[in-house]
Amino acid sequence: MKIFLVGGARPNFMKIAPLYRELKKKSDLIETKIIHTGQHYDYSMSKVFFEQLGLAEPDYYLNVGSASHATQTANIMMAVEKVFEQDKPDWLFVVGDVNSTIACSLTAVKMGIKVAHVEAGLRSFDMDMPEEINRILTDRISSLLLCSEPSGIKNLRAEGYDMGKIFLVGNTMIDTVAFHLADIKKNDFYKTLDLKANSYACLTLHRPSNVDNADSLLNFYNILDYAAKESEIVFPAHPRTVKNIEKFGLKEKFDSIKNLKIIEPVGYFEFMNLVVNSKFIMTDSGGIQEETTFLGIPCITLRENTERPITCDKGTNKVVGTDFNKVVSAIKWTEVFSRSYYIAPLIWDGYAAERITEIIVNY
Ligand code: UD1
Ligand code: UDP
Repeated sequence: MKIFLVGGARPNFMKIAPLYRELKKKSDLIETKIIHTGQHYDYSMSKVFFEQLGLAEPDYYLNVGSASHATQTANIMMAVEKVFEQDKPDWLFVVGDVNSTIACSLTAVKMGIKVAHVEAGLRSFDMDMPEEINRILTDRISSLLLCSEPSGIKNLRAEGYDMGKIFLVGNTMIDTVAFHLADIKKNDFYKTLDLKANSYACLTLHRPSNVDNADSLLNFYNILDYAAKESEIVFPAHPRTVKNIEKFGLKEKFDSIKNLKIIEPVGYFEFMNLVVNSKFIMTDSGGIQEETTFLGIPCITLRENTERPITCDKGTNKVVGTDFNKVVSAIKWTEVFSRSYYIAPLIWDGYAAERITEIIVNY
């Protein structure tokens, strides 16, 4: 059996790394290859993860780069079609909800290649998010729907899917945290930034609704100006965000906030080292809501909704949106958040990729 794994954007690489490791253990039965679409291409958004997470060089690099949604999706489809014409897998494994996910899935099914969607069924119920469109469409055309949390099963059932192709497997992104946790803790990157353990906040922002317009960025300036008076903030800024801060002429304003350290995106070990030693996280990322829930670290989600409700049920995540007063009261909540006796979701046990491999072998 031939299986290809697709990675394109930063959060994909943590999700495919454990699958690659597990599938490789079955190399007597399965030939595994990696396709990298090139949706993300900077060293710090792509190659660093291959180096750190033990992923082999991609077998196919499509080099599509950045563009509008239609152009990027179309470019990926045209490039991956050529790969499938020469080298046709039995299964294509796609993860998450980025443009690379839907583009490769759609190309595959039309060429008779079965698709397995890892992280199926998640729903924000917000069709303004490009990711929600990608999730719904990818699920619709997948032969195997592999869910990371119970809400995924509930959503797919409500949408009328054949329950025979749905499995609750756990979370491959969390497999990666669990596998590397000792090294993440040993890394001590936070010390190189002169930060003290449990005394600073870590921030990430990249959602178009948050960073693609000047008013929203100005609102974040006000929030950060306040928050940085309470504790230091480290902000590994996504290239999209950096470009927009510059485009809207707000760089000087952000740079003027004392106690706000804006840095380049960092590697996985460095970033997770910042997370494990932080007092709290502020983010609009999907994956970081989950990583903090696994680790029992308070997370303030700067979005109006989440497609990962288990993170709120466990009590580590507060989805507060971007209203100044709501963010301020969530920062106060992090002061009283207790990490004692915290138990991570049971299904996030580090063995999702192993379960997925068993399922595909027995399919
Ligand atoms: C994409 C995903 C989003 C995911 C995020 C993870 C889609 C629709 N969006 O958003 O779901 O949460 O990745 O980080 O697939 N850029 C660079 N260097 C890079 C990559 C991007 O400079 O290596 C800049 C370019 O200016 C580009 C912009 O970032 O136009 C946005 O990149 P893109 O991949 O289109 O979307 P993301 O915002 O990264
Ligand atoms: N991450 C990283 N370096 C950074 C910021 C994030 O390694 O500077 C990791 C983070 O730990 C998580 C993943 O990137 O594993 C999340 O990616 P992102 O927030 O870009 O995407 P999303 O999850 O929102 O789709």
